[in-house]
Amino acid sequence: MNIQEEKIQALVERRAGAKLGGGQKRIDAQHAKNKLTARERLVRLLDEGSFEEFDMFVRHRCTNFGMDAVHTDGDGVVTGQGTIDGRLVFVFAQDFTVNGGSLSKTMSEKICKVMDMAVKVGAPVIGLNDSGGARIQEGIDSLAGYGDIFERNILASGVIPQISLIMGPCAGGAVYSPALTDFTLMVKDTSYMFLTGPAVVKSVTGEEVTQEELGGAGVHSSKSGVAHFSAESEDDAIAQIKKLLSFLPQNNMETAPLRPTNDPVGRMDDALNSIVPDNPNKAYDMYGVIRSVVDDGEFFEVHKNFAKNIIVGFAHMGGRSVGVVANQPGVLAGVLDINASRKGARFVRFCDAFNIPLLTLVDVPGFLCGTQQEYGAIITNGAKLLYAYGEATVPKVTVTLRKSYGGAHIVMSCKQLRGDINYAWPSAEIAVMGAKGAVGVLKGVTEEEYNDLFCNPYQAAEKGYIEDVIEPRNTRFRAIRAFEVLAGKRQELPAKKHDNMPL
Ligand code: HXC
Repeated sequence: MNIQEEKIQALVERRAGAKLGGGQKRIDAQHAKNKLTARERLVRLLDEGSFEEFDMFVRHRCTNFGMDAVHTDGDGVVTGQGTIDGRLVFVFAQDFTVNGGSLSKTMSEKICKVMDMAVKVGAPVIGLNDSGGARIQEGIDSLAGYGDIFERNILASGVIPQISLIMGPCAGGAVYSPALTDFTLMVKDTSYMFLTGPAVVKSVTGEEVTQEELGGAGVHSSKSGVAHFSAESEDDAIAQIKKLLSFLPQNNMETAPLRPTNDPVGRMDDALNSIVPDNPNKAYDMYGVIRSVVDDGEFFEVHKNFAKNIIVGFAHMGGRSVGVVANQPGVLAGVLDINASRKGARFVRFCDAFNIPLLTLVDVPGFLCGTQQEYGAIITNGAKLLYAYGEATVPKVTVTLRKSYGGAHIVMSCKQLRGDINYAWPSAEIAVMGAKGAVGVLKGVTEEEYNDLFCNPYQAAEKGYIEDVIEPRNTRFRAIRAFEVLAGKRQELPAKKHDNMPL
């Protein structure tokens, strides 16, 4: 072997060492917990052979508590670039086998480097999180590292899609970066998110709680709404993220890729003509309506188990990616409460930031009232959804299926909030409130009189508040044609430093 060959051999060996992360014993321990390693995850996430790693030889600089004797090439995170379905992404995957994936200053520098690259070239960044938070031995350096990452999360927000997968126990700083990103996905039974774990909770508050109860995938995808998606396994998580990306553009200057379909634009669905029950208090399946109008019946739902009284998610219509927002009459009659408003607002703002048109399907009896909601600030939270729709400049097509009462009518992408094309089905009731409530206030007016005057779409149609009353079976065609017309829409917001939305 000549000198050059020896040098190449040394590189090959050093790379092989780096790829082992914290060593075979810890890799086995990771597998025993039903978890993959950082590199195994990236292999599954990225197109075959597309991964190019950065900073494989970077080492931490900590000397406290004997850390100077322990060095792993690459430290506790694997970073780089690759493609998913042929589209460029930047990735970082925390390596739990190295100090529990805890964040050192050098790890934060590696993560910041890929985030900076992602913003520079305009491609999504995907973080695979599996970390015990700030590396305790590094003290303030580690906290500074988190600060650097958070600042980049904030500056990248609305510029490139940022996606977080939670693949293990994530504590402390390790949960705030995901919270600043656009979408968070958790894996059931193996991933947790909390500020501090059960032991600290017990010592501070006396509360005894398991990791699962405190911050498992079930809790965050149904109760807190911190997680947008939950997955059955790591493979399922990766499959969901790939699907999600297929609806998104690379950055805020682009539109999402078109997806060709054989589903005819003019496909009518007679079933929609009879989907709304005669009894206004009876529910029906809003998912059925969504699947009927979108391409190939495919709907990718976001926040599926959180605030089920509103449905949000992505679909394609005529090949174009759209965000769908729909009230769900089957859950709490589709009423808007605090969580539904937060969920809807966040989704609308994401779509608007990334040029994804909005289809809004309305059947809403109003806002939920009562002390619980008032004390929880339904006013401020409801205003979030109002604000989100009102500021959104993407094409907005609205179809009112049945109820559209009061404040909730205004919120759900009405004409005055710059709804572009608003349709209603003949079953629509666009009014200040339902007949029962109204006759309780208006003495001498009967329900029948009120219904005749207001519980129909024609008051709104006669005044030009909606463009047309359409046959339900024709909704797909009308909506797609509206989006085609609106494809070149240009609308500006007044110049400002930034808005002051009701947070
Ligand atoms: C240094 C850490 C570490 C940390 C884990 N390790 N967390 N090392 N700093 N924060 C090390 C462990 O010492 C261990 O090393 C290895 O990682 C695996 O950890 P285990 O505890 O054996 O694993 P497990 O039982 O699975 O428990 C995982 C865990 C637990 C739940 C994450 O390690 C844990 O509670 N860690 C501390 C979490 C925490 O409170 N972080 C907050 C930091 S403060 P060996 O060598 O024994 O294998 C913070 C503030 C930032 O992040 C604020 C910004 C806003």
